[in-house]
Amino acid sequence: MSFTIPPSPPARPNRCQLFGPGSRPELFAKMAASAADVINLDLEDSVSPADKPAARQNIIRAINEIDWGTKTLSVRINGLDTEFWYRDVVEVLEQAGDRIDLFMIPKAGNAKDIYAVDALCSAIEWAKGRQKKVGFEVIIETAAGFAHAEEIAASSPRMQAMSLGAADFAASMGMATTGIGGTQENYYMLPPKDAEGPRAPVYGDPWHGVVAAIVSACRTHGILPVDGPFGDFSDEDGYIAQARRSATMGMVGKWAIHPKQVALANDVFTPSEKAVTEAREILAAMKEAEAKGQGAAVYKGRLVDIASVRQAQVIVKQAEMIGG
Ligand code: COA
Ligand code: MG
Repeated sequence: MSFTIPPSPPARPNRCQLFGPGSRPELFAKMAASAADVINLDLEDSVSPADKPAARQNIIRAINEIDWGTKTLSVRINGLDTEFWYRDVVEVLEQAGDRIDLFMIPKAGNAKDIYAVDALCSAIEWAKGRQKKVGFEVIIETAAGFAHAEEIAASSPRMQAMSLGAADFAASMGMATTGIGGTQENYYMLPPKDAEGPRAPVYGDPWHGVVAAIVSACRTHGILPVDGPFGDFSDEDGYIAQARRSATMGMVGKWAIHPKQVALANDVFTPSEKAVTEAREILAAMKEAEAKGQGAAVYKGRLVDIASVRQAQVIVKQAEMIGG
């Protein structure tokens, strides 16, 4: 272990983030009643330019008037390359009460982007005497965001989470796809030329590299890595497969762009009873081994050691946090 111990991420559930356009206020109460851990009220791409002023007011009213229970409440502002973002921050932070938890900053490209929003938020908080500091989450969805994921994760004490935005990411990288996340038809290997049987394609995961970059940046700096949208909300199996890959890679949750996807994310990102039982059994087996002065033990025919203890603790900790 390095002498530098990474900080722990925020201890709150983030299994599913449900999005809704700020221009569709009739959805807000339904979002509040959903089983999502995080709610994202959107001012960015799901709201047309003409609707932005009204959407800001809808969102301010919703923050102040709707009972959001224990959910984390986030507002996605417009990108720093637009004329909209400063008014998003100023109006929402001046007029919304303390119920707002986070701003989501899209298309984060480097640490200076976050610094700019931080400076503006700080000035508003001082001017208004706001006691609660608003937190930040960002979307990595550009080539620059991928290249600078680590400095973005380290950019501000306000930082809490980082999501992958697959569609904008694909566009920025020049990837040959129009799908929002998931399996891509042309990203495959074939079995060797002389293999027996038909050469059925074996699909790979074109998002793997950026997911690994996000997870490592987040785990280094104590923030939550989250998988972003899956556009084809009629493809539940495709959503589950993508979510399982992200969970396996270390992400803690995934967005829902339709209410149908909330239960799917909650299911994948809640450790199963079997996994929790197994993790507890591994911890018990190691405790027994340690009592006998042994550094390793055998559990169900396989080696477990101190690294297995750390893996098991991740699962138990996650289950306890969600349970309580
Ligand atoms: N949150 C909560 N409830 C929602 C919802 C959402 N995001 N989207 C739809 N619903 C509700 C509908 O109001 C409807 O409710 P009802 O049964 O009481 O009538 C029900 O869920 C089924 O909705 P459906 O008719 O299938 O969807 P739609 O055509 O109204 O909307 C979308 C589909 C994709 C346009 C809509 O879900 C949406 O805007 N999603 C979020 C998009 C977004 O924010 N994108 C930015 C991040 S990528
Ligand atoms: Mg985007």
